[in-house]
Parts: sequence; C-alpha cells; structure tokens
Amino acid sequence: MYIAIINLHGLVRSDNIEMGRDADTGGQTRYVVDLVKELGKRDDVEVDLFTRLIKDARCDKDYQKSVEQVSEHARIIRLPCGGTKYIRKELLWPYLDEYVDNLIAFFRTQGRAPDIIHAHYADAGYVATELTTYFPTPLVFTGHSLGRNKLEYLKSQGVSDEKLEQYYHISTRIRNEERSMRHADLVITSTHYEKDILYAPYESRDEQKMQVIPPGLDLDTFFPYYHYEIQDPAITEEMKRAQYSMGRELQRFLTTTEKPFILALCRPEARKNIDLLIEIYGKSKELQAIANLVIVAGIRDDIATMEEGEKQVLTDMLLLMDRYDLYGKMAIPKHHNPERDVPELYRLAAMKRGIFVSTAALENFGLTFIEASAVGLPFVGTDKGGVQDIKQNCDSGVLVDISDHKAISDALYQLLTDTDAWHTYSEHGVQNIRKVYNWTSHADTYLGHLETISSSKKQEPALASRLAQLEHLLVSDIDNTLTGDKEGAEALAAILTKNQNKLGFAVATGRSLESALEVLEAHAFPKPDILITAVGSEIHYADGQLQDKGWSNFIRRRWKPERIRKLLSELPALQLQQGEGTQRDYKISYTVVENADIKQLMQTIRDLLDEQKAPCHLVLSHDTYLDILPYRANKGDAIQYISWKWKIDPTRIIAAGDSGNDRDMFSRQRKSIIVANHEASLDSMKKSKHRFFASEASAKGVIEGLKHFKVLS
Ligand code: GLC
Ligand code: MG
Repeated sequence: MYIAIINLHGLVRSDNIEMGRDADTGGQTRYVVDLVKELGKRDDVEVDLFTRLIKDARCDKDYQKSVEQVSEHARIIRLPCGGTKYIRKELLWPYLDEYVDNLIAFFRTQGRAPDIIHAHYADAGYVATELTTYFPTPLVFTGHSLGRNKLEYLKSQGVSDEKLEQYYHISTRIRNEERSMRHADLVITSTHYEKDILYAPYESRDEQKMQVIPPGLDLDTFFPYYHYEIQDPAITEEMKRAQYSMGRELQRFLTTTEKPFILALCRPEARKNIDLLIEIYGKSKELQAIANLVIVAGIRDDIATMEEGEKQVLTDMLLLMDRYDLYGKMAIPKHHNPERDVPELYRLAAMKRGIFVSTAALENFGLTFIEASAVGLPFVGTDKGGVQDIKQNCDSGVLVDISDHKAISDALYQLLTDTDAWHTYSEHGVQNIRKVYNWTSHADTYLGHLETISSSKKQEPALASRLAQLEHLLVSDIDNTLTGDKEGAEALAAILTKNQNKLGFAVATGRSLESALEVLEAHAFPKPDILITAVGSEIHYADGQLQDKGWSNFIRRRWKPERIRKLLSELPALQLQQGEGTQRDYKISYTVVENADIKQLMQTIRDLLDEQKAPCHLVLSHDTYLDILPYRANKGDAIQYISWKWKIDPTRIIAAGDSGNDRDMFSRQRKSIIVANHEASLDSMKKSKHRFFASEASAKGVIEGLKHFKVLS
C-alpha cells in the first residue's frame, strides 16, 4: 500500500522538530511525523509525507531538501508553492493549486499514484480533494484543530469580522473543512470530544465515516522518570546534561530547588490561562510553602519584539509575578530546547514529586497531559475536552472545573501532600499511556481502516475489470486517422472487432461526442471503450452515456470562457466556429481566416491571454483550426488521466493521429503512431524511438503501427 500523507504548513523534518517555534509547527507536525515514522517501519507499506519546500534565510537548510529519506519505506517530499519563503498557513490559500499541479507532476514522474491520500488540516484537505478528482483514490481527512471552533473562540475574544477574514481567512478554512469531509472516505480524530463536539457543527459530518484513534507518543523519549539506567549510556549522558542545564536555568529563579514544583508547559497564548495559574499560586501561601511554580511558556529573547498576543501574555506573567512578589518561588525560563529538554523537565518535576498543571479551560486533545503521564508526572487539568479521554483511558491525574479556582488550588495541594495518591496516579500514567497511546497500536488500527475503505472503493464498474484485462489500448484520432481511406478503415474496424478481448479501443478527437459517435457508426467501427472528445476536454464511457466528472472538475480550474471570447472577439483573423457541437463547456474553437500571419497571430493571442491572467491551452491544427481549452486540458493528459484512473499501464497504451490537435498525445514516451498523411508541423516530432511514423496513410498506417509495436502479429 502506497500512502501519501499531506501536511503543508509549518516546518516539517524527521528529526529535531522545532516544536512551538511558531503557531504552525507544533502538535500537528509532531503527530504527522511520528505517524510516518511508524508506518515506515512496516514492510507492506510505502509512505511519503508531502510538505512545502522552504528556502528562507530565517529557516534551517533542512527544509530545502526536496527528498528526505526517513527510513527504508518512508520519505518526506518537499514541493514548492507560492515561492519558497516561509509564510504562515493562513497565507497559503492562493497557492494551493500550484501545489496540486506539482504533486500531480511528481506522481507522474515517479510513475505511480498513491493508493490512499491522507490530508491533515484544511489546506491539505483542499489539495487532496483536488487530487482525488484526478486520481480516484480513497481520501482520509484529519482536521486537527477546527475552523468553526476557532471562529467561536476568536469571536468570544472580540476579534473583528474584518480580522477574521483578512488575517485568519476563517471562512475559506471552514469551507474547505466542509468540502474535505464531504469527499473523505474516512475522518480520523484523536478524541471522542473532537468527534462528538468539535465536528458537530459541520454539515458534512457523517458519523459512519468517523473513527477515533488515539495517537501514539514517542515512548522512547518519554520514558518513566526512574528508568534512566535502561537507556543507552551515551543518550543518558546527553539527557543528564540537558537535565543539568535545565536545573541550572531554574536555579537562576528559585531560592531553593529542593521543593517539588508545579510545572506548566505551553505556548504563550491567552487561551492557556497562564495568568490564572499565577494568581492561584500567588494567593495561596500554602502552595507557596510546599512547592515552587515553573512556567515554561515558549522561547523568548526580547519580549518587546514578539508578536502582539505573545507579548501580552508574557508581560502579564511578569506583572503578576511582581504583584504577588513571587521572586525566588517562580521560574520562567527564557530558553529551552523543545525536543531535548521537554521530557527532562517532566522527569525533573516527577523526581521532585511535582505536578503538571494546565489551567486552559479547554484542551481539544491535551498532548502535554499524555507526555507528563508517560514519564510518571501526575496532572491537574480541565474536566472539558480531550483530557477527559486521557483521564478515562489512564486515570493518571485529577480533573477540575477550571472556573472554580478553589478547586484547582485544592487539587494541587491535595496531590502535593498525599504521597499515596501521587504514586498511584504516577504509576497509572506510566503503565496505561504505554498501552493506549503507542504508535504501533495506532498504526495497526489505522491500517485496518485503510484496508476497509480501499476495498470498498474497489467495487468499480465492469469497465474497470475489462480495462484491467486488456493487453493494449489503442487511443486513436478519428478524422484522417481512422477515416480518410475506406478500405483501410474497414480493415482496421475488423481487426478491432476481432481482437476485442485483448485490444481496447478509445478515440481522442476534436469532434463533439455526438458527431464522433455518428462517424464511428457510419464506418462500422466497434463501440469504443472510452471517448475523449472536444480535443481532450471531455471524457465519456458507455457509448457516451457516462461522462467523467472527475476530469471536468480537474480541468475546470481558472477557466473563464466569457472573458476569453470577449478578448478574442476583437481579432479580425479569428472567426468563431459555427458548426453544431463545436463550442463546448471547456472548448472554444475558432477558424483562422485565410492568409493570416499565423505566427504573429498566435503571439498576439498568447499576450492577450497572459495579460488578462487567463491561462489556457492553445491547440492549432492544419494552421486553420484554433481550439482554446483550460490550461489543464489536452488529449495527452486526458489519456494520462485515464491510465491513472483505470490503472492501465501507460506502456500498454498506443496513440494514433495525424494533426496538430494530436500532438499532445505523442509526448511522455507514449507509444505513438503518426500516419503518413500527417500535417507537416508534426515532422518536428521525428527522431524518437517511441514515435512510429507510418509509411501508409490513415487506418492502414494505424495497422502498420500496431504491427510495429507488436500489438498485432
Ligand atoms: C474538429 C472540431 C473543431 C476543432 C478541430 C481541431 O474538427 O469539430 O471544433 O477545431 O477538430 O481540433
Ligand atoms: Mg485528425
């Protein structure tokens, strides 16, 4: 199983994740990387984690690598979009189509599409949803934090409507969460709270598709506080050093480091309620007598230069420390190394019989509670949200109503003074976290669900099994390739009918569906398996009764037919084609007037379209017909799409044609037959092993080519 995991924002690398460096690099990043590492251990899985390529002086060079091998079966693949500067996730929206295109190009170059696509967060959800219109692959979505919830919170904080849109782009996010969930075959959450409460306001929520799978924790890092000896001595040394330097850092603030300490560890965000914790501690002489308070709130150099929200939180911390005169009792370290020091901080706290505390009113998940529990540090935290699952699964701490300040203070005091209770919670944490929150069992459950959704997706129509059995598929143009020579056409029609079981038949034409069907019938050709019509802008099956919607969705991007028609109406050398079926939803066709300077004309058209930012694909045939298509549409990509969609090995496909609108079919190493009566402009495509220039014209040339490629003996 080849799994593509998409996580676009933040700074993603396999080691030394810069946890908490900014709002985009944190719990989600950790989760995704750990999942990928675990999946990469399995022999029956290949996994690629797709993220953004970042070349930015402010960021490490690691993020410039396009391919990072994580393990034998896992890689991180970095593709650019919106330039290579590091920008916050809210600003990525306009560039996601570029990412889609780069991703498709990537899968094409490596010659295989994923069996499963798993998108993390709404931005990746957008990219994945676009992809699944191109590769009909089962889609898994994990929203992580959710837009509707964030919207509510930001509103409660008095954030203006204008800022909600201009800074947070909140409606775009919510719209894409809805869309991702609608298209997803599976939606994964970490807690019941997320599934039942946070996803509840979404219209596309579908209970049937949802699964709660608790994430794992890197248990080698978060080992119990009393287990140093079982580690590799070199690692232990490093840990001891980290612990020592953290100890030193705390000493700078504390009169005595003998006492237990109450540890808070979170980003400096208003919603973490750090001020409340300081107040509770500041007002309680009892707590101050028996414990210190240690608050590790991100990393700072100069508060004055920090982002507004963080600045506010940190300034309040300092003011409260001063107001309650907590000098010597409260530590607020400036620096720590998130990867190396965090587990040591928990362990240091546990060794001194301290407590982990968070006074945030709501945690959607509560990763820090799991980490603290894993090393054996009991917690006190909110009785709302994701922490409820942790309490239920592990019973490794105490939950309180955060609005009840006395309850918090009592819980802290109680735990600090009741040694038995402390040890019970501590040991529950160590044991139960290992059972529930480990990546091995997460991945087992996860892969089980993936199997289920991919096998149910596999119930494809009969066409799929027919296409899968074929030895070859001929994709041929109609006019002057199939037709033009009556005798040849009859011979080819007979060959196609006779070899129906092993040789599939598709057409790729500039004609409309109706007129294509008409000609084919007139020439007694068998019914084609697939009809690519309107110069690759439409794909139909089942005698034209079934249109491929995925393809239409895919090519529709940035298509502005009205604007194009208007722009080009001013060019006297172009006349809109009038014939029935010549103008289609995704095809505008002109006839070029006689004696026009074609080169000059094409340049003028390109400039006009460029100027108006209307990207298009221009196809000129016989210097007479000009077709304008969406930039993603052409006969060649339509074939490629079909080959992905129906899993037809591209080397088994043979294209045949004669004119300019067939040119796109002959690229990408595709086996191609160019009949003798081809238009002169195709001569430039000679000198390539995969292209066969037939000596015979039309259908006879096609037969000659099929023999050349050993499709026929
Ligand atoms: C067919 C179509 C016409 C198109 C031409 C070249 O003749 O009917 O609309 O311009 O092919 O692709
Ligand atoms: Mg033709």
